[in-house]
Amino acid sequence: MPDVSANVAGLKLRNPTMLASGFLDETGGTLLRVFKAGAGAVVTKSIGPEPRTGNTNPTVVELEVGMLNAMGLPNPGMEDFGAEVKVALDGGAVVVGSVYGKDPDEYAAVASRLESYGVQAIELNLSCPHAKGLGTEIAEDPEAVREFTAAVKAKARVPVMPKLSPNVSDIAAFAGAAEDGGADAIVAINTLKAMAISPELKTPILANRVGGLSGPAIRPVGVRCVYEIYEAVDVPIVGVGGVETGRDALEYILAGARAVQIGTGLATRGMSVFADVTSEVAAYLVTREVHHTSTFRFRSAMEGAPGQFIMVWIPGHDEVPMALSYLGDVKGITVRAYGDATNALLKYTAGDLVGVRGPYGNTFHLDGRRALCVAGGVGIASIIAAVEGFSDRGTKVSTVLAARTAEELIFEERCEEAGEVHVATDDGTRGFHGLAPALAKRVLGQHTFDSVVTCGPEPMMKAVVDLCLERGIPVQASLERFMKCGIGICDACVLDDALVCKDGPIFTGEELAKSHDFGRFRRDESGRRIPL
Ligand SMILES: Cc1cc2nc3c(=O)[nH]c(=O)nc-3n(C[C@H](O)[C@H](O)[C@H](O)COP(=O)(O)OP(=O)(O)OC[C@H]3O[C@@H](n4cnc5c(N)ncnc54)[C@H](O)[C@@H]3O)c2cc1C
Ligand SMILES: Cc1cc2nc3c(=O)[nH]c(=O)nc-3n(C[C@H](O)[C@H](O)[C@H](O)COP(=O)(O)O)c2cc1C
Ligand code: FES
Repeated sequence: MPDVSANVAGLKLRNPTMLASGFLDETGGTLLRVFKAGAGAVVTKSIGPEPRTGNTNPTVVELEVGMLNAMGLPNPGMEDFGAEVKVALDGGAVVVGSVYGKDPDEYAAVASRLESYGVQAIELNLSCPHAKGLGTEIAEDPEAVREFTAAVKAKARVPVMPKLSPNVSDIAAFAGAAEDGGADAIVAINTLKAMAISPELKTPILANRVGGLSGPAIRPVGVRCVYEIYEAVDVPIVGVGGVETGRDALEYILAGARAVQIGTGLATRGMSVFADVTSEVAAYLVTREVHHTSTFRFRSAMEGAPGQFIMVWIPGHDEVPMALSYLGDVKGITVRAYGDATNALLKYTAGDLVGVRGPYGNTFHLDGRRALCVAGGVGIASIIAAVEGFSDRGTKVSTVLAARTAEELIFEERCEEAGEVHVATDDGTRGFHGLAPALAKRVLGQHTFDSVVTCGPEPMMKAVVDLCLERGIPVQASLERFMKCGIGICDACVLDDALVCKDGPIFTGEELAKSHDFGRFRRDESGRRIPL
C-alpha cells in the first residue's frame, strides 16, 4: 500500500478517511469498532452541554439517492460523554470531538470539556439544518461563524475545525470567516436542507417536516463547496458528503480536500467502507497509459510547479529524474520504459514503495495570450502541467501531441480539456502523418502565438526551437540529461556550462541559441561527451 496517510492541521491520520459525525458515534465501543474497521479517525456525535433526546420519530427517510434525517442532535451531554471518549482512546482510536451549543460560551465550554477527555481535535457543528437555535442560525451568518470559532479557539489547544453548511449561497465567504476566527481546518459539508412527503399519507414524513439530505445525491454539491473553499482559504479542508468509493474520495481530494468523512456510506457499504475506500484510493495511484507507459499517483505535501521534476529512487536499481505529470495533493509521474530503472518501476503496482525527493528545477513561465505546446512521446509528461497551467490562467492553448503511433498517444483528453489539440503520428495511424515539428510549423501559421513550450526527443525540440527563433516567438524547452544529485552539486547533468537539474530543466530559446551542446551532445554516466 502506498503512503496514504494525511495530516489535517496536525491531526495525523493513517489514511484519509474519517467517520462523519452522527453515525455509530454515541458510544466509545462503536467509535472504537469503526476505528478498528479502518477509519483514519472517528468524529463523535455532536455533543452539547446537556443531554438531549432530539426529535420524535420518524427521524429518518431512506431514499434511492441517499438519506433524509432530522435526528435533532440527540446526545448524552458533555458530562456523561467522558466515559465514552475514554473507551475509544484507550483502544487506540484517533478521536475528534464534535461540539454544538446555543452561544459562543457554550461551544467553548463543551469544547474544553471534550479536550479535557483527550480528544485530538474539535469539530464545531455550526451547520445542523434541523435543530432550531442550535446551528441553523449560526450556519447562515458569517459573522457568527467567525465569532463562535474565535470563542473556541481562545481556549482550545487542539486543532479546531468548524463544519460548514452547504445551505448558503457563498460557502467560501463562510470559510473565510472561519479562517478569520482562527480555524485550523474546515470541514464541509453538513447535510442539505430537504423534505420528503408521503403521497399516500399526504403528509411530510419526518416529524420535524424538514431534515438534512446526505449520501450520493449531495456529493457533487460537497465537491463544489470544497473546490470553492480551497480557492478562498489556506487552511486544510476535510470533504464530507456522499463518499462511498475511492473514486468519490479522490474527487474530494482533487478538489482540494486533505481527507474525507464518510457517514451514509456506512449504510450502503458497511463498516468495511473505510478500508475499502482506502485501498481503492491507493489502487487509483497507478494507471497504465499505454503498454510501456504508466502513471503512478502518490499523495505528497511537497510543492511542485509546472515543469519541475522529482528524483525517484527504485531500490536496488537506480534513482532517476521524472517530471511531475500531476500537481496538487495527489501528485503523479508518468514513466516510459527505457532501461533498467524505468522497466523495474513499471513492474510496480499500488502499494509498492519508492523513494521520492524534490521537487527540483525551474518552472515554465506561463505568460501570454496564446500558447503552443509541442510534445513528443512521453515528453507530454513534462509539459502537461504547463498546458493546464496556461489554460487556468486564461491563456488560449493549442497542443501538438505527437507519438510514433496512435496507441502511444497519452493525455489527449487532458490536453483537450485545456484547449485545441493537433495530433501527429510518425506512421500516420492518427491525425497528421509526420513528425511534430512539421505539424507545429503548420499550427504556428494558423494563429498568432506569443509563447511556445516543448518537450520530447532533443532533435524534435531543436527543430521547434529553431522555428520559434526564426519567427521571434518566445520558446521554452524542457531538457533531459543524465542526473545524479538533482540539486546542482555533481556536474553530471551539464549542458555547456549550465546544470540541467538546477538552471533547467527549462531553457529559453535565447539560451539554447547560444548552446553548443543542445541538439548535438549529451554526457554519459562517466561524463564523456556523446553525440546525440
Ligand atoms: C528533468 C527530467 C525529467 C524527466 N521526466 C521523465 C518523465 O516524466 N517520464 C519518463 O519516462 N522519463 C523522464 N525522464 C527521463 C528518465 O529519467 C530516463 O528515461 C531514465 O533515467 C532512464 O533510466 P533507465 O535506467 O530506465 O534507462 P538507462 O538504463 O539509463 O538507459 C537505457 C537506454 O535508453 C536510453 N534512454 C534513456 N533515457 C532515455 C530517454 N529519455 N530518451 C531516449 N532514450 C533514453 C539510454 O541512452 C540507453 O541507451 C526525465 C529526465 C529528466 C532529466
Ligand atoms: C443520521 C445522521 C445524523 C447526523 N448527525 C450529525 C451530527 O450530530 N453532527 C454533525 O456535524 N453532522 C451530522 N450529520 C451530518 C453528517 O456528519 C455528514 O455531514 C452528512 O451526512 C454528509 O455525509 P454523508 O453523505 O457521508 O453521510 C448527520 C447525518 C445523518 C444522516
Ligand atoms: S544532477 Fe548533479 S549537478 Fe545536476
